[in-house]
Amino acid sequence: MTESTRTPAADITDLYVHFPIRHGRHRLVARAVDGVNLTVREKEIVALVGESGCGKTTIARTIMRLHEATSGSISIGGVDITHLGGRKLRAMRRDFQMIFQDPFDSLPANSNALDVVAEGLAIHRRDLDSTARRRATLEALAACGLPANVAGRRMFELSGGQRQRVAIASAVAVEPRLLVADEPVSMLDVSLRAGILRVLLDLRERLGIATLFITHDLALAGVFADRVAVLYLGRIVEQGVGAEVIANPAHPYTRALVDVMPRPDGRRTARALLPGEPPNPTAAITGCRFAARCPLFQALGSPERCTTEPPALRSISADHAVACHFSDTTVLSTAKENIA
Ligand SMILES: Nc1ncnc2c1ncn2[C@@H]1O[C@H](COP(=O)(O)OP(=O)(O)O)[C@@H](O)[C@H]1O
Ligand SMILES: [Mg+2]
Repeated sequence: MTESTRTPAADITDLYVHFPIRHGRHRLVARAVDGVNLTVREKEIVALVGESGCGKTTIARTIMRLHEATSGSISIGGVDITHLGGRKLRAMRRDFQMIFQDPFDSLPANSNALDVVAEGLAIHRRDLDSTARRRATLEALAACGLPANVAGRRMFELSGGQRQRVAIASAVAVEPRLLVADEPVSMLDVSLRAGILRVLLDLRERLGIATLFITHDLALAGVFADRVAVLYLGRIVEQGVGAEVIANPAHPYTRALVDVMPRPDGRRTARALLPGEPPNPTAAITGCRFAARCPLFQALGSPERCTTEPPALRSISADHAVACHFSDTTVLSTAKENIA
C-alpha cells in the first residue's frame, strides 16, 4: 500500500468547536475551531502552528475528548471516536495519548516516575502481569532518557525537562497510534528543548508513533515536522511540507510568520508580526478571517471578494495547499521592495 491509502493515525474532518460565553448581558460564541480538516498519517509528525488563541489547544483537547466537538468528526486509526462513550471509548483511549505544555501541572507531584508510567499501563495494558508491566515501565523511561536511578524519584524532585520526559514515557508506554504534544517544550529552558525533541523523533523512528506536534514556532515546526499546518482563528490557512511552506509561503499570514523568523545572520525581515487588531474568535466573519490584518488585502485595495467569500483550502502543488483568493498575485513582494 502507498502512504496515502493506509489508514491514517488521525483524521479530523470539518471540525467545529464553539464555546458559548457570556459577555455582560450578552451571550456570545467563541469559534475556537471553525472548520478544520487535518490528517496525520502513520509514523508522520504534523505540526500545527499558529499564534496564541488560534485554537491549537482546543483541537488537541477535542481529539482527547476533553471537549465535545460542536460538529465534524475525529477518527483514530479509522475508528470514529467523536461520540464514543463508556467502555468503547475506554478501549480506544490507549490509541491516542497527549502530553501537555506544563509538566509541573500535568503530573501528580507526590508520585514517583515508576508509578506515573505504570498507572497508564495498568489501565491500558491489562494483558501485562506485574513483572511485564515493571519491565515495560523501565523500558519506556529508558527510551525517554530517564535512567533507573531517576525512576524512583518523585515528581517534585525532578526538573521540568525530566518531568516532561516522564510525561512522554507515560504516554508512549502504552504504544498509542497518535501522540498529541501540545507545546511540549515551550515552558522548558532552551537548553533542555533539543533533548526532548530528540526523544520524540527517536520514538517515531523506533515505535512508529504518529505525532501531532503543536507549537507557535514556525521555524521549529519547519525543521521538526514532516508537514506543517498553519492555523489562523480556528481554521487552517496553509499546509504542506515544512521546508516548502517556509521557503515558499503562499498565504499572507504564513509570510508574516516567516518574516519574523530570525535568519541565519540573525536578522529578521520584519520586527513585529502584524499590525491591527488581534484575532477575536467571537466576531462574526463573512469572508476571509484574515482580511482585517492582511497586507495583501490592503495592497490590492480591499477586494470585495475577501470580505464576502471565505477562501477554501486549495492545492497549489503536490502536498501544498493555501486558503487565499489572491495568493498568486505578486503585489505584496513588489510593495515590499518599494519600501526597501
Ligand atoms: N473552555 C473555553 N471556553 C470559552 N472559550 C474558550 C475555551 N477554551 C478556549 N477558548 C477560546 O478559544 C480560543 C482558542 O483557544 P486555544 O485553543 O487555547 O488557543 P491556543 O492553544 O492556540 O492558544 C481562544 O479565544 C480562547 O479564549
Ligand atoms: Mg494552547
